[in-house]
Amino acid sequence: MTEESPRVIDKTTAEAFVMERDGLLKGLTQEQQSAARELQTALPDWRRGIGGLGSKFISLSTALRERFKQSAFLDINKLVVVDFALRLTETIAQRNIPDEVLALYPAKVSQLLAYLRNLSDHEYNFAHDDFVKDVRFASGLSVPCGAAQVVDLSSILGYKTSARLLFCNPLTRYVRSILRSGGIGPWFQIHTDSRSLNDFDEPGWDACYMRIAALLRVHPEILGTAGRAWFYDPVLETVSPRLTYLRQRPVERGAFMLWSGTTDIDIRNATAKSANRRCLYEAGKYTPVSYILLWPRERLIAWADSQREKRP
Ligand SMILES: CC(C)(COP(=O)(O)OP(=O)(O)OC[C@H]1O[C@@H](n2cnc3c(N)ncnc32)[C@H](O)[C@@H]1OP(=O)(O)O)[C@@H](O)C(=O)NCCC(=O)NCCS
Repeated sequence: MTEESPRVIDKTTAEAFVMERDGLLKGLTQEQQSAARELQTALPDWRRGIGGLGSKFISLSTALRERFKQSAFLDINKLVVVDFALRLTETIAQRNIPDEVLALYPAKVSQLLAYLRNLSDHEYNFAHDDFVKDVRFASGLSVPCGAAQVVDLSSILGYKTSARLLFCNPLTRYVRSILRSGGIGPWFQIHTDSRSLNDFDEPGWDACYMRIAALLRVHPEILGTAGRAWFYDPVLETVSPRLTYLRQRPVERGAFMLWSGTTDIDIRNATAKSANRRCLYEAGKYTPVSYILLWPRERLIAWADSQREKRP
């Protein structure tokens, strides 16, 4: 971040967050407020490659859910996010984030504010996908890159995925990483946030990968970018041809795709928005299968450089 870097959070949004925090503090006892502070310190370090919220946060949060009434527990969880959001400028200053990524923050932070203001879902807690994404974003464990993607700044591949990648691409640095951490890493890891899908399309994804390349350039320790999704499945060529760019473009540009299987969440996601996929699934003609995208840093940066050279 330079002196002239874009602001992470604009003045009006910052003031609105302060009002949110004051409102929440008024309704919470001292004990509940300190529970929110404890939760914040229970998160994993951003460099440790731990996904989700980490075991310490989850066990503390599980205990708090038992201890407090549902409405107080919801406000504690909101306060965690609001408090983090108010410190986002200082947090992000320690993450080495390029300006093209910083430029996405003001809109993303005001979306978060609007979401929190309208939130009534009592299940907004450690087991809720939106909460996990909001805590990770507001605490600087993940950063926005566009195309509805939030990117974990550090992630280690599981043992099976590491072994498969090593088979496709036997690099010494991968072997060293397995010996050191039990899996290949660290990688960036992309996740789709379904609340902001307006640029979830081919140009939006290209712009997203350009931002990830910019992040990789300033984080030389990161091996590349990883992601797992049902929409990388080659069967979409017949089932949903509109979505084939999601697999094809990264593969043409040097990414690996590794088979990863089917979970209930994959089935739920793949059939959530498309009547066509839902009908095919119910008729037994389509089973969603997820693949893991692994795009090594040199290949992603080389593609991004070639795009920059094409620009007038
Ligand atoms: C992933 C996701 C964002 C992709 O959305 P998308 O780009 O709109 O593509 P989809 O194929 O899912 O579109 C859903 C429906 O809208 C239609 N549609 C989408 N864009 C359209 C367009 N520009 N013109 C006409 N129809 C369109 C599609 O035809 C499809 O309906 P159909 O398959 O019955 O024909 C969306 O499927 C989703 O939100 N899924 C649930 C969450 C999820 O999967 N997250 C990722 C987890 S890994």
